[in-house]
Amino acid sequence: MIDIHCHILPGIDDGSPDTETSLEMARMAARDGIHTIIATPHLADINYPKDRLLEAIEELNTQLKRQAIAITVLFGAEVQAHIALEAAENFCLAGSSSLLVEFPHSYLPADSENLIYNLITNKITPIIAHPERNGQISQEPWLLAPLIKLGAKTQITAESITGDQGMTARNCANYLFQKNQVHYIGTDSHSPGFRKPILSKAVKQAAKIIGKAEAQKLVSGYNILLPSATNLQPSA
Ligand SMILES: [Fe+2]
Repeated sequence: MIDIHCHILPGIDDGSPDTETSLEMARMAARDGIHTIIATPHLADINYPKDRLLEAIEELNTQLKRQAIAITVLFGAEVQAHIALEAAENFCLAGSSSLLVEFPHSYLPADSENLIYNLITNKITPIIAHPERNGQISQEPWLLAPLIKLGAKTQITAESITGDQGMTARNCANYLFQKNQVHYIGTDSHSPGFRKPILSKAVKQAAKIIGKAEAQKLVSGYNILLPSATNLQPSA
């Protein structure tokens, strides 16, 4: 499995504070069957040096090899919506044209449709990070439909699907599953204990709603690390 949303880089944001914590997160992820993690530190400043992230990823991958932990960490970022257009050139996920976009936590900005439209017309696929934990969307999940119609994708948090983030997030996730509006599952893990780097429980839960093959697709990295959704071979 591939986790497209994880704050595993040490000392960059409010995620892992140090290398030992990052390695512990990676051990947990590997035990869960995850082989690739896209590192997605919060990006609020368009001038943040990308090189610093690339160096941190290289260093962490070296440590992972040294410790024989079977995880590869790839480049990415979780980009705040107000800088998404400028960030698209440098901060897409793992060399793809998909950009992980974070809206404010409590509301959906009035210009969201414009933003999504502008990204799409610039050939960038916005992936909306954890909409089910957004205060307004969790109450009015139908607000996502126009954005998805424009071409936006969604990333739902694994612990929202399992209920570990509370009933509001879980109910919203269930609504989005019913509407076929869940495109990726990510952990959004910040440490071994704060949103665990575990995907399998959520996939199992999702499979009950949308079936096993569809659920596995959501953690396959399609259109990011795999060419397209249509190339996926559902596993037995
Ligand atoms: Fe995040």
